[in-house]
Amino acid sequence: MGILRIRGGNRLKGETWIQGSKNGALPILAASLLAEGESEIVGCPRLSDIDAAMQILRELGCRAKRQEDRVLVSGAGLSRSEIPSGLMQKMRSSVIFLGPLLARTGEVTLSLPGGCELGPRPVDLHLGAMRALGAEVEERGGCITVRASRLKGGKVYLRFPSVGATENTMLAAAGAMGKTTIINAAREPEIVELAEFLKAMGFPVSGAGTALITVEGRGRAGNTVHRVWPDRIAAATCLSAAASAGGEVRLLRVCPEHLGSVLSVLSQMGARIGVEGDSIRIRAERLKAPGPVLTEPYPGFPTDAQPPMMAACLRAEGISVFVENIFESRFHHASELCRMGADIRTEGRTAVIIGHRPLYGAEMTAHDLRGGAALAVAALAAEGESRIAGLDYVDRGYEDLARTLRDLGAEAERVEE
Ligand code: EPZ
Repeated sequence: MGILRIRGGNRLKGETWIQGSKNGALPILAASLLAEGESEIVGCPRLSDIDAAMQILRELGCRAKRQEDRVLVSGAGLSRSEIPSGLMQKMRSSVIFLGPLLARTGEVTLSLPGGCELGPRPVDLHLGAMRALGAEVEERGGCITVRASRLKGGKVYLRFPSVGATENTMLAAAGAMGKTTIINAAREPEIVELAEFLKAMGFPVSGAGTALITVEGRGRAGNTVHRVWPDRIAAATCLSAAASAGGEVRLLRVCPEHLGSVLSVLSQMGARIGVEGDSIRIRAERLKAPGPVLTEPYPGFPTDAQPPMMAACLRAEGISVFVENIFESRFHHASELCRMGADIRTEGRTAVIIGHRPLYGAEMTAHDLRGGAALAVAALAAEGESRIAGLDYVDRGYEDLARTLRDLGAEAERVEE
C-alpha cells in the first residue's frame, strides 16, 4: 500500500514542469476512434485514468500503445461496441467513448460510469445529446444501450454547460453526417483543445471556447499528431502548495491564461505572481483570506482546484469561505484536514475556514483525487510528519506528486508499506 510521507515546515524553493493535462488527453484518446489511421498523442501523462482509457480502446479491438511520453492509437481494428462494466467503473470519463463509438458502430452498450465520489453524477445530458442526433436510448438496471444506424447533425441544448456532455456531443457530431450546433456548451480549455484536435483531423469545428459550438460531421477523418496542453489543475495544485508552505517557486510549461481565476484568488491572498511566457513564478509570505471562492464553470474558479486552494487557505489569516457549485459533495477532504488541527466547518455546499490555526502532521486518507492533493498541500505547512494513504485516487491525476513536491523543495516521499 502506497503512503505519501511529507515532513512539513519547509519553505519551498524550486521549479517544476507541469504534466500534460489528464482532462485534455482523455477525450482526445476517445476522439482517436474517428481517425482513419494512427493518432499520435504526445506528452500524454502517465496516469491510471489514461491507462484505463487505453484499456477501453484495446477492449474495443483498437491498438493503443505507449512509447515513452507518447500514446499511439489506431482505431482500424475496432470490432466491439460494448464497454465492460469493470472498465466503465474505473473512471467517469469512460462515458465519452459513447459518442465516437456510436458514430462508428451504430450501437453501443455500456453501464453507468464510476469515478471519484463527488455526489450524484448522472449522464442524462450525454444521453439527451445522442437522442438529439437521432439515437434511440434504452436504459435498464444501470445498463444503457444506444442505437443509431446513422447519426445526423442536429441542435443540442445543454441545460448545464457540462464538460463531458459537450465533449461527447462534439465527438458524436464529428462522426455524424451534417451540421450540429451545441447551445450552452462548456467553455473549458479542454473543450478548445478537443476542438483543435478535431480540426487537425479535418473536422470543421467553430465556436469552441464560447457557449455556441458548431461541428460539421464527416464520419471519419485523417490521423494527426497532437501535443497535450499543460494540466491547469496540476499547476493550480503547485501554486496552492507554494501558498501553503510559503516561499518562491516557478512552474514551467503552463498556460497562464487558463489559470486566471486561480491566480486572482492567490493575488487577493497577497501572493506575488509573475507571468513570463509559459512560466509562472509565485512568491508567498504572510497570506490573508481571499474573498469568497465560488466554484463555477470556466472561466469561473474550477471545482477541481477547490480542495488544494482550501488547503492553502488554512495558513491564511482571517476567515475563508468556499461555495461548491458544481458537485454536491466535494468536501471529503475537510474532515481529513481537521485531523491536522484545521478549523473547517461545512454545511451543504459551503465551507468556512478559520485560518492560521497551528497544523500538526497527521495520518490521513485521500477519498478522491483532488481531495488527496489537498491533504498533501496542507501537510507542507504542518509541524512534523504527515502520512497520506489512499494514493490510488491521487495516481488518477498526478504523475508523481511526491517528486513534484520535492522539485519545489519539499520533504516528500512515497513509500510502499
Ligand atoms: C469534468 O467532469 C472533469 N473530468 C472533472 O474533473 C471536473 O471536475 C468537471 O468536468 C467539472 O469541471 C474530466 O474532464 C475527465 P460535468 P465531468 O459533466 O465532465 C452535472 C478531476 O478531478 N451533470 O461538467 O463529469 C454533474 O452531475 C475531475 O480531474 C448532469 O447533471 O463534469 C455535475 O454536477 C473530477 N448530467 C455537473 O453537471 C450530465 O449528464 C458538472 O459535471 C452530466 C453532468
